[in-house]
This record gives sequence, C-alpha cells and structure tokens, in this order.
Amino acid sequence: MSKSCLYIGLMSGTSADGVDAALVQIKPDKIQLIDFISPSLPEALKHSLLALNDSPTLSLEQFSQLSFDIALQFSQAAQTLLVKNNLHANEIQAIGSHGQTIYHAPHIPMSLQIGHPAFIAKTTGIQTVADFRVDDMALGGQGAPFAPAFHQVLFEEDQACFVVNIGGIANISYLPGNSHPNPAPIGYDTGPGNALMDEVCQQFFDRGFDENGELAKQGEVDNKLLSQLLTHPYFLKAHPKSTGRETFNQSWLEEMIQHYEHSSGITVGKQDLLSTLCELTVCTIATEIKKVTTEHSQEESSLKTAVWIVGGGAYNEHLLSLLQNQLPQYQVKSSTAKQINPNAIEAMMCAWLAQQRIALKTIPLSAVTGAKRDAILGGHWLP
Ligand SMILES: Nc1ncnc2c1ncn2[C@@H]1O[C@H](COP(=O)(O)OP(=O)(O)O)[C@@H](O)[C@H]1O
Ligand SMILES: [Mg+2]
Repeated sequence: MSKSCLYIGLMSGTSADGVDAALVQIKPDKIQLIDFISPSLPEALKHSLLALNDSPTLSLEQFSQLSFDIALQFSQAAQTLLVKNNLHANEIQAIGSHGQTIYHAPHIPMSLQIGHPAFIAKTTGIQTVADFRVDDMALGGQGAPFAPAFHQVLFEEDQACFVVNIGGIANISYLPGNSHPNPAPIGYDTGPGNALMDEVCQQFFDRGFDENGELAKQGEVDNKLLSQLLTHPYFLKAHPKSTGRETFNQSWLEEMIQHYEHSSGITVGKQDLLSTLCELTVCTIATEIKKVTTEHSQEESSLKTAVWIVGGGAYNEHLLSLLQNQLPQYQVKSSTAKQINPNAIEAMMCAWLAQQRIALKTIPLSAVTGAKRDAILGGHWLP
C-alpha cells in the first residue's frame, strides 16, 4: 500500500445512525477503499440530533456543545481507523469531514454542518478539509446533492447509468456515460429515502429500521394516503432541488395522516403505513428516473440501463424488488454487484473531496446544484 495516497473520509448522514469513516487510497487512475468502519453515535447524541428534525431550535450553549461533541466523535472514528490499520497520523494526507447536517435551507441560502474541523485537525494531527456545501451555495447553488460528482468517478462507464443513494433522504445521479459529448452528471434529491420509515419503526415497532423491508412487505399500500403524500410541492418542483429532514419529518407525516384519517374515516394500520412509505420512496425515485431518461437520453439503447443502488437502503431487499418492478426497462442492482460497499460511498466521497480541495481542483457540480460555476469546495484546517 502506497502510504502517500491515503486519505480519511468522515460522514454522518441525516439518519444519524453512526459516523461513517473510510480509509481510502487515491491514485490518479484509481480510488480504492482500504477499510471502513461505522461506529454508532452515543444514544443521547443521536437523540438530540433527531429531535432537531421536528423542532429545529437550540440555544447557543446547546449548539456549541453539540458541535464540539460531534467533532470528538468524528475525530475518534478517524483515530480508530488509524489504530486498526497500524498507521500513524503523518501517513495520512488529509481528512475530509462532512460534519453532521443539522439544517439544510437552500432558500436562505444556508446549509449548516456541525462538528468543528479545528478539533478534528488538532486532535488527530491530520490536516482537515470541511464545510464543502457553503461554497456552492455562495455561488447560487443548492449546496446538495454532492454525490453525483463522485458517483461519476466511481461508476462511470461508456453507457449511461443511474446511481441512487437511499439514505435518510434519497438522491439520484444520472451519468450520461463517457462516450456522451457532454458527460457531466446531473442529479437531485428525490425526497424521503429511509427517514420516514425509520421514524415509524422507532415509534411503533421498537426497532431502528425495517430490516430487509420485512414489515413493509407484510402490509398493504394505502393508495389514497400515498396520493395525498405525493401532493407535497417538493415532488412537483423542477430540478435543481434539494431537501432534508427539515421538510420530510415526523411532524409532516403526522399532519398528513391526521388529515387523511379525518377526511376518509379510515384508520391507517402501522404496517400498512410502512408499506405506503416504502412505496412513496420507490415511486418518487422511479418517477424521477423515467423523467430524467426522457429529458436526457440521446437514443434508445438495446441494453437495459443500470440503476446502481447505494446507501443503507441498498440492503432493503423488498424496496429493491419494488423498484425493479416499477422500472422493467432498467436493471436495478445494489452496488455490491460492482464490488462497491454501498455504505462506504459517502465517506469515500469526503476523502476524495479533501484530496480534490488540496489539489485545488474544481468539482463539476454546477449542472447538479444550479451554481453559477463549478468551484473549489471546502475550507482547510491545519493540525
Ligand atoms: N438491512 C437493512 N434493511 C433495510 N434497511 C436498511 C438496512 N441496513 C440499513 N438500512 C437503512 O439505511 C439507513 C442508513 O442509511 P445511510 O446510507 O447510512 O443513511 P444516512 O446517509 O442518512 O446516514 C438505516 O437507517 C436504515 O433505514
Ligand atoms: Mg448513515
């Protein structure tokens, strides 16, 4: 292993399920995952973060404490990777830290990631690159999603394909293929991924998430409730667009269910609710994939277009089979079929963003985010 090309990427998504930490070797022609860990966040910390989705208010004291606590969790994850791989800090080129998003508000525009990078740099002894999203926003962009640029690096082939990240929120990337005259990726958030299903599992089934979609599989989709959920204006908006758990959260869901139950006189069973939410994720993703294909595909291909699924949702077999049913002209597969760990991609992206920032490379995202131009992303903290 050439130690001159090693980077660490740190990420915690909107699910707040843990700190994803990837040790990555980045060479000009190849990006390789060396190791990946995902230590859970302490329950109290996770609880504080998830509570912010429904009630995004904090005192400055609480905000400062949270930013410090998250930074230490991120730093510890990086240090665990070093020990596990018998590496010293000076063998790592840089850390790329996404931080924990606690408020994503493109309308302001502002996207707030916490876990101050100064603490990560100083406690690990490794220069740290962070705060990637605000540069894009300062240029009029959505500041999200960033995944399409990295999906292009990992997944691009001659043929066009899609990559769908199903985290708390879901986002799609369309990669036109390197034989296309304009291979720049496009992509956007489609809406909820696992977030609402996780909420229902935690509230009514005493479990963090619906393992392999077993519960959703046993229920029935309530099509009238589904139609009502689909009236959310976000689904009708044209891209560029991005969203978060400030928009799709338990409060919104409860309001929609109450309205539906009140007007229909029907009480929605909890298992049917899960099936309906699973269907909501599936049909919003499928609709956008078909829309992007119509808008961008140059010619009919005889090959079925690949739809690679990444993020925690890639492990939900039920969801994947529903998506395949809705997309018979496509081949829906977890990225494991391409020997890429679905869980590690976002943390790998952070390592890559750090490497790109230090090399002063612009990231091709303006077609995704709507920014005025592509930019060098992130601030740089020294150890
Ligand atoms: N075996 C599985 N079956 C169903 N869902 C899963 C499984 N493993 C992970 N998930 C889902 O993936 C989520 C975590 O996905 P992740 O990509 O880490 O999201 P985020 O980026 O928002 O943190 C979990 O909360 C859960 O909903
Ligand atoms: Mg996660």
